[in-house]
Amino acid sequence: MRILFVTSEIHPLIKTGGLADVSASLPAALQSLDIDIRILVPGYPRVLSGMKEAVECASLPSGQLVCGKMPDTDVPVFAIDHPELYWRSGNPYLNDQGVDWPDNASRFGLLSKTAALLASENSPVAWKPEIVHGNDWQSGLAPAFMHFSGSKAKSLMTVHNLAFQGNFSPDWVARLGLPAYAYAMHGVEFHGHFSFLKAGLYYCNTITTVSPSYALEIQTPEMGCGMDGLLRSRKNEVYGILNGIDLSEWNPEKDPYLNVNYDAASLDSKIGIKRELQLRLGLEQKDDAPLLGVVSRLTYQKGLDLVAACADWLVAQGAQIAVLGSGDREFEQNFLNLAKMHPGRCAASIGYDESLAHQVMAGSDIFLMPSRFEPCGLNQMYGMRYGTPPVVRKTGGLADSVRDGETGFVFERAEVEPLRNAISRAIGCYREKESFRKIQMNGMERNFDWQSSAKSYADLYKMLTA
Ligand code: ADP
Ligand code: GLC
Repeated sequence: MRILFVTSEIHPLIKTGGLADVSASLPAALQSLDIDIRILVPGYPRVLSGMKEAVECASLPSGQLVCGKMPDTDVPVFAIDHPELYWRSGNPYLNDQGVDWPDNASRFGLLSKTAALLASENSPVAWKPEIVHGNDWQSGLAPAFMHFSGSKAKSLMTVHNLAFQGNFSPDWVARLGLPAYAYAMHGVEFHGHFSFLKAGLYYCNTITTVSPSYALEIQTPEMGCGMDGLLRSRKNEVYGILNGIDLSEWNPEKDPYLNVNYDAASLDSKIGIKRELQLRLGLEQKDDAPLLGVVSRLTYQKGLDLVAACADWLVAQGAQIAVLGSGDREFEQNFLNLAKMHPGRCAASIGYDESLAHQVMAGSDIFLMPSRFEPCGLNQMYGMRYGTPPVVRKTGGLADSVRDGETGFVFERAEVEPLRNAISRAIGCYREKESFRKIQMNGMERNFDWQSSAKSYADLYKMLTA
């Protein structure tokens, strides 16, 4: 089976969140199931320089196609080399001021259009996919272009986050070469905008999302971000498949970012990482202060304003807080202020830092993820694997992966009080060493590898091509 996996970010070449992790590990898992999968990604500078064996392999109507392999897994990659659109440093979606690049419609329109071209009779490369597997709005136009060009290949769209929709002004419909009549309710129109995600969800053959709970949630008006009607009308074609995690990248036994490695039998060694983390972040060197960690995009989705609202109370409990994240300026400032108000007790590291992310995951005692919504979430799984039980809200993939009182602590309403109660339970448990150890061990025993999820994708591919 030949699959073209289309994505706008991929670890370790370019990453803003979990989509990059999934784009690296899912194709590798599918390849091990003997699926001939290739990845299509924009040729950002770090992609072009980080790919292995990169060679220009075809001319495109716009830009060049570079073929190569992923650095760690050898999965084949196509990168679109188009300097004017992609040779920019930093974040793939935003400029240095944190504002969307004004030509994002062109940039991701080209990604989608190239995917459709590779799946067509006019493709400049001999390898032709039977299925185009798009991810999020950035590849949402691929099914639309495939539809209008009469492609024989099938298309599947995975929704990693329905809140990001790629909505642009309608004049882009013609500028990107779609027929004017596509701009309709039964087409790419979405509340007066031209929506890349709506286009994908409307024209694709099958829809998946990244957890069974989120697959149901997005069909409700409360959580459907305006697309619930369309999703309900296709409910028999919407599947929820829980993400896995990369067990070699996130492995406390071998993690190169840690000063001490450990496993379930040597959990006492975790204290060495906690001490190092306290030192690195300027927290008081206290072994018995429960250390609560956060690694996150700092946005409304993640519910971290609730954590900030608990901070004074937490400090009064003798707890410490370590936040690593970046995102909305207001959230960043809030955590910086808290760190100033509670020196030695609260630390805020604003930015993106791979090594610190691993250290916080391993060196904290408890991981916080009180998301308002969470399509899947990977960090809570990393937390469990690192013996750092998560406190999570019962939503989406958090509800599907964490068991209350068994592998972590779950609360229901996205409000300060329920979060405080859950943290209170977690800290109480932490202080009773034996029951905490049991929860740590249960989490470490859970198997979040990609095998069964990759198999579910493979089954869907089979169904689509049957
Ligand atoms: P989302 O994709 O919604 O941001 P996930 O939990 O699925 O949430 O994935 C987040 C990924 O991004 C994880 O791999 C996490 O470790 C990483 N991450 C988030 N923020 C940072 C940061 N500031 N520094 C390093 N890694 C981060
Ligand atoms: C999105 C979601 C997150 C999910 C990730 C990978 O960024 O917000 O919940 O884990 O995609 O699917």
